[in-house]
Amino acid sequence: MYSQNDQLSESAQQSNLNRRDFLRFCSLMAATLALPTLYVDKIAKALSLATRLPVIWLEFQDCAGDTESFLRAGSRSDPIQPGVTDPGLVDLLLDFISVEYHETLMAPSGFASEKSLNEVLEKYPNQYLCIVEGSIPQAQNGIFCTIRGRTALSIAQQVLPNAMATIAMGSCAVDGGLPAALPNLTGATGILNAIPSLGNHVNLPGCPANVVNLVATIVYLITFNHLPEMDSRHRPYFAYGEEIHEECERHNFYEQDKFVLAWGDEGHKNGWCLFNMGCKGPETKSNCQWVKWNDSTNWPIGAGHGCIGCTMPSFWDTMTPFYQPVDD
Ligand code: SF4
Ligand code: F3S
Repeated sequence: MYSQNDQLSESAQQSNLNRRDFLRFCSLMAATLALPTLYVDKIAKALSLATRLPVIWLEFQDCAGDTESFLRAGSRSDPIQPGVTDPGLVDLLLDFISVEYHETLMAPSGFASEKSLNEVLEKYPNQYLCIVEGSIPQAQNGIFCTIRGRTALSIAQQVLPNAMATIAMGSCAVDGGLPAALPNLTGATGILNAIPSLGNHVNLPGCPANVVNLVATIVYLITFNHLPEMDSRHRPYFAYGEEIHEECERHNFYEQDKFVLAWGDEGHKNGWCLFNMGCKGPETKSNCQWVKWNDSTNWPIGAGHGCIGCTMPSFWDTMTPFYQPVDD
């Protein structure tokens, strides 16, 4: 498709990607974003022409699960050609972004890390993308999360309003997540609640959020120069527009009233519906069934465990008990 596109060929040569990997990446992104195949061309052109987008990744009150998720999005098996391995999504993404600051990953620490942050803010005013992982504690003036003696809220107020866009990566950054579960002793909250004035903001809930959705959001931003269409909770429709249940691989069993009734029973062995084991798929909006996890090999329901609704608001409180239907 791109044989006449000199710019793309040049870009592919300059990058670490070969053209096959690059086009596969663009196709995967178009599919994840629910865009027609003609947009593969547009994505490829935009990525091949774009200068690297500087990224600041902040971590607040969290378990670093989203960073782990990011780091482990390594090479993935080709779903069409068994045995063929593609570069990981993050390998591919790092050709188009430049992670300028990430406390867990970068070498500087202490005062040197603060200097690094200030240098990035000065170098790229209003040009950087800020990804936030973790909640912001507000109780007792925010003392439950301090970095270099500064509260998470103070750092967020310095960095987020001057970003060209902000992304809350994972449920903790979206609505407080686990730290905000009752009784929420630290007064944990999400970043949009802490700084309501953020105008160009995306929420990617999940525990952790799926890196495929993060990468697709960034690719969309680079391609179209604006954020994808979102619902009233700032969640992109492409990732959180539909409930898992209707497109679940076990939905036929649900329709046939074939339910797992105990872990390890015949129904469980036969892959029947997990509704009676507490699956929250009927109430959970996510694209997990399509993008999956662990290099796209599997997902919770595919592995025989019900969905616990980890993409839904305040799920630690609203979806428990995890192993009983919510209506019980
Ligand atoms: Fe729905 Fe869960 Fe059953 Fe899948 S396993 S059909 S999401 S109730
Ligand atoms: Fe979370 Fe349910 Fe997906 S538990 S990872 S939303 S299948």
